[in-house]
Amino acid sequence: MNDEFLWSGLGLIPALAARVHGRAPAGVTGVSIDTRTLQPGDLYFAIKGDAKDGHDFAGAAFAAGAAAAVVDEARADALSAHGPLYIVDDTLASMENLGRAARARGEAKIIAVTGSVGKTGTKEALRAALGASGPTHASAASYNNHWGVPLTLARMPRASRFGVFEIGMNHSGEITPLTGMVRPHVAVVTTIAPVHLEHFASLDAIAEAKAEIFLGLEPGGAAIIHADIPQFDLLNARARASRAGRVLSFGEHAGADAQLISFEARETGSMVSAKVLGEAVTFYLGAPGRHLAVNGLAVLLAAVCAGADLHASARALGAFEAPAGRGQRTGLAAADGNFTLIDESYNANPASMRAALALLGEAAAGRRVAVLGDMLELGPDAARLHAELSEAIAENRVDTVFAAGPLMRGLYDALPPGVRGAWKEKSDGLEDVLAEALGAGDVVMVKGSNGSRMGPVVAALKRRFASPNGAQER
Ligand SMILES: Nc1ncnc2c1ncn2[C@@H]1O[C@H](COP(=O)(O)OP(=O)(O)OP(=O)(O)O)[C@@H](O)[C@H]1O
Ligand SMILES: [Mg+2]
Repeated sequence: MNDEFLWSGLGLIPALAARVHGRAPAGVTGVSIDTRTLQPGDLYFAIKGDAKDGHDFAGAAFAAGAAAAVVDEARADALSAHGPLYIVDDTLASMENLGRAARARGEAKIIAVTGSVGKTGTKEALRAALGASGPTHASAASYNNHWGVPLTLARMPRASRFGVFEIGMNHSGEITPLTGMVRPHVAVVTTIAPVHLEHFASLDAIAEAKAEIFLGLEPGGAAIIHADIPQFDLLNARARASRAGRVLSFGEHAGADAQLISFEARETGSMVSAKVLGEAVTFYLGAPGRHLAVNGLAVLLAAVCAGADLHASARALGAFEAPAGRGQRTGLAAADGNFTLIDESYNANPASMRAALALLGEAAAGRRVAVLGDMLELGPDAARLHAELSEAIAENRVDTVFAAGPLMRGLYDALPPGVRGAWKEKSDGLEDVLAEALGAGDVVMVKGSNGSRMGPVVAALKRRFASPNGAQER
């Protein structure tokens, strides 16, 4: 097969179990399910989503340069004028088939990452660490569900030495088919935390659902779990009952296979010393926060289990940066001088909220300012889980809290009056009061669930306080 193509046009036919209408392309250079991001030369899968049906966008896909489209038999006739079609019974099932074919054809060592928080950060750190040892393919964004995982597999180049897959879930039973497709050599569970509590009775029930990832492990593969969490025993038992040949742990616990020895916060990252499988290693991690340093230990264990060099992997973590919305820092200019914005707006739950408040606590700041939006999907305990954050706010010496949303009202009212900045019903209501309040030397951390719309608050601050020479991403 010609290496310039991800898939040859003829090779796609058996992999998709398709019949071809029109002239099959020589090959495709990528795989897409979204015409807005489709690149010329991509194979377009028309997937039915909850709200929209990708078949309605097949014309747009060809207009954007799709080499061919995969469509359902039922829609094929109507689309036949647009361009070459691979016609199948069910486009999602055929994307899964293509994913399995990608998994079967190469030699890549495969790492799967799940956990209540930290999946994307850990996946991106693995991309950086493994990239030092060979070509590494990894999921885009948080593509971790029933379409994201097969899409990521289908995109894996044959020559990859490593493949890194984020796997997520909202309900028990969802990880089992995904890990069965990915068949990891190494499976990582970052941590267990109260996220998606709506669908689970307890943290143990969440751990059971995450432990499904071990069911897909290749015989003799490695399971990597967090040594410091109450669900360690449960995860350890499930891993040992799987086909894993090795079960390794990471954390601050003295018995951990990758143990944090020392952690030193720097402005935009941290210096980390650890003992990994008996070897001492010290490295700079290019994103701040103790929680990310601990995730970094899971990364190093996974890298070693996948055959990468420990020290090259550790060195490469220096170039890792916090992904957007997950701790990215920007220097901004107020009238009286510069201040720092920490953008944590991508998402929030009690665990990541505490980690972000700790990050703010570590900052050398004139004033520590937290701007917080509601944490969603927490079920009946939501009010309590919000109010309890007042402890972390005190522990981390946060000076002022600005809050938005009905759930954050409970936290706001639980704070000492001196710490209350302002509360608003909606996040955009905070923009003016923040513009008024922020000044030189402040460190401002903005966080909330995606649905609480704290991202636009970050964008507004960046707009209003852009320094004359442009905001500095740091
Ligand atoms: N071990 C951890 N404990 C607490 N918070 C963490 C931990 N690891 C990462 N976080 C924080 O959790 C937030 C979400 O991180 P990330 O996007 O990596 O999670 P995710 O599991 O991919 O989330 P999603 O389910 O939305 O895809 C970030 O703010 C990150 O700093
Ligand atoms: Mg993610």
